[in-house]
Amino acid sequence: MARKIVVTGGAGFIGSNFVRYILEGYDDVDVTVLDKLTYAGNLDNLKEVENHPRYTFVHGDICDESTVNEVLKGSDCVLNFAAETHVDRSIGDPASFIMTDVYGTYVLLEATRKLGIPRFIQISTDEVYGDAGDEPSDEESPLMPRSPYAASKAGGDRLAYSYFTTYGTPVVITRCSNNYGPNQHPEKLIPLFLTNAMDDKPMPVYGSGVNTRDWIYVLDHVKALEAIMNSGGLEGEVFNIGSGTELSILDVAGGILTVLDKPESLLKRVTDRPGHVMRHAVKTDKIRSVLGWKAEVDFETGLRMTAEWYRKNRWWWEKIKSGQFEEYYRKMYPELESK
Ligand code: NAD
Ligand code: TYD
Repeated sequence: MARKIVVTGGAGFIGSNFVRYILEGYDDVDVTVLDKLTYAGNLDNLKEVENHPRYTFVHGDICDESTVNEVLKGSDCVLNFAAETHVDRSIGDPASFIMTDVYGTYVLLEATRKLGIPRFIQISTDEVYGDAGDEPSDEESPLMPRSPYAASKAGGDRLAYSYFTTYGTPVVITRCSNNYGPNQHPEKLIPLFLTNAMDDKPMPVYGSGVNTRDWIYVLDHVKALEAIMNSGGLEGEVFNIGSGTELSILDVAGGILTVLDKPESLLKRVTDRPGHVMRHAVKTDKIRSVLGWKAEVDFETGLRMTAEWYRKNRWWWEKIKSGQFEEYYRKMYPELESK
């Protein structure tokens, strides 16, 4: 019998990569996407599968109890990707983050508990650890989130855990590092820099640019989630996911300039982000030993594939970068306005 999975936030960056990958690779998994289609949700990301016989799209909010109950009924696994996800936007307007990332997660957990759904995967983030300091964070490291986004995700993460400890809800929590790849909204570093550079526009580096992140190609993340979805047990467990490739913003920007053959003069220093985390880095020994998963795509290859995708899919990002985004961009990067 086919498994029925519910993917919340499936019209976003990682969710849509996950949905396309699962529908392509499995003929016994039915996928229902529940997505509010916020500014970050985009049905273009799911165009390839829109007529797939095992795919259903539901336009709805994870905070809406009756929709959630209806959609989750009879499912075998819920993967909660739905979230407000941009640190910078959370600094300007935290309310929607708290609502979706905490309350929305609660609504999903409550439905999962009441309906007796056998698996709930909470897609958390390595941002919940805050600054990694000298040592990459492991799953036992304290949670010291530094932005309203990270704090809201930490709320959802621990709420999921509390459903396991209190009600025995079969929850698994993942904390992945910074993803990049096709279909990422151009508000995030790599697609913003790629698309700006392609148009010879400035690439805004916050502060010194020496802050580091662990960069993972989105399909490596998707495959880690696939491994978790397919293994029994694991209830109440937390898994870090990362590539081990730690690079600064300046390193990433340099890589982009090389791949696109653009001049360094495109780099522009702008005011630093408040609360900017110096270092996000995770230990991934646990997922390697328990599930045998490891990241496979090296950064240079992943960046080339990503640049190629953005080069070939101007129609996709030009639409996003016009309209609403222009206003956000002007407010976010006032120092670039005259350039
Ligand atoms: P994204 O912003 O591209 O997509 C989020 C999706 O959630 C959108 O389709 C949006 O419409 C939907 N959504 C937002 N609020 C909703 C609501 N109330 N109800 C239903 N749908 C709603 O995000 P992403 O980068 O694909 O991230 C997906 C998940 O992975 C998030 O939970 C994020 O915290 C987590 N994560 C992301 C990264 C990363 O580097 N992007 C790293 C680790 C973890
Ligand atoms: P981002 O893609 O927003 O992800 P996160 O904040 O979740 O790590 O940012 C990644 C890094 O890039 C972070 O150190 C902030 C920096 N950054 C810039 O320097 N300039 C930019 O315009 C953006 C969007 C990010």
